[in-house]
Amino acid sequence: MHIPVLSHRLRLAAGAAAALLLAACSSPAPEQAAAPASKVEPAVPKAAAVTLYTTREPGLIQPLLDAFSRETGVAVDTVFVRDGLPERLRAEGERSPADVLMTVDTGNLLDLVENGHTQAIESAALDAAIPAGLRDANGHWYALSLRDRVLYADKDLALESFAYEDLAKPEWKGRVCIRAGQHPYNTSLFAAMVAHAGEAATEEWLRGVKANLARAAAGGDREVARDILGGICDIGIANAYYVGRMKHSEEGSEQRAWGDAIKVIRPVFASAADGGTHVNISGAAVARHAKNRAGAVRLLEYLVSDAAQSLYAQANYEYPVKPGVALDPVVASFGELKIDPLPLAEVVRYRKRASELVDRVGFDQ
Ligand SMILES: [Fe+2]
Repeated sequence: MHIPVLSHRLRLAAGAAAALLLAACSSPAPEQAAAPASKVEPAVPKAAAVTLYTTREPGLIQPLLDAFSRETGVAVDTVFVRDGLPERLRAEGERSPADVLMTVDTGNLLDLVENGHTQAIESAALDAAIPAGLRDANGHWYALSLRDRVLYADKDLALESFAYEDLAKPEWKGRVCIRAGQHPYNTSLFAAMVAHAGEAATEEWLRGVKANLARAAAGGDREVARDILGGICDIGIANAYYVGRMKHSEEGSEQRAWGDAIKVIRPVFASAADGGTHVNISGAAVARHAKNRAGAVRLLEYLVSDAAQSLYAQANYEYPVKPGVALDPVVASFGELKIDPLPLAEVVRYRKRASELVDRVGFDQ
């Protein structure tokens, strides 16, 4: 009898699929989820797993890693390191299992390079996908997504364009909201201002912005939108991806109301002849003591593929580092991103000076 045999097989297949699904759901570690799959398909040889150390939120990055494993058959052993990535690498030394290091903020990434935790790689695919200013000339680090620092403005405000310098203009007195000046998102922006306008002009500018604040420089980026809705301020500086998150929040939710209260304008540096919008990055590097260097490069190359860049854009609302990738509709509504052409490595050089200026003008006091 063919039919009972067939149905028995189907039941077995369904059972195996359910077990796989359970394994995938119950464990955030993809290597565990992938293990039963090798039993189902023993003919496919398994490539060596890649070990990823990442400071990124698991929910944001896991879909990208899953897609990589599905496409290449290479499992990713992910270690989420919320704090103290450099300390951990230092403690592990040559024994470190890390193949790829992934983090946000150019400064954090360059700290890893400067402390000898990365190694140089060469990849034509990475060089072709990532503009030169957004990666290390020597192959030690690569930006994977962009986080533009933009103006949130009351949606009813008659305002079409904006320069970061405008934040200090007297017309905005008592109308500006921003998070702490010492937060890396702001020190990065202020460092870019130092690079463009010089230290004295940046100090003057920071005093002007401080004088225009509607409330203390504190809270998070989303609170800028919250306080615009609450009538506390009219404009503020914050990262663009939060608008994607807020505007995609459930209808009727608090965050949706915050997102719907604002419009986004991408400021430029008036001090620069060809000034664009300030971006920070998420990025990655191959670890100094990588045991699976080839796999590490393969993962990085996957993360700048059209498919992965589209996932960044659609799921995280970050801006793809690779030109021409489809954007989330909310992000697309902000128009094209013209990136400040100043190389990120140059911006990072002024980070410490920017931090000192924040203290000198008492920005956070
Ligand atoms: Fe953030």
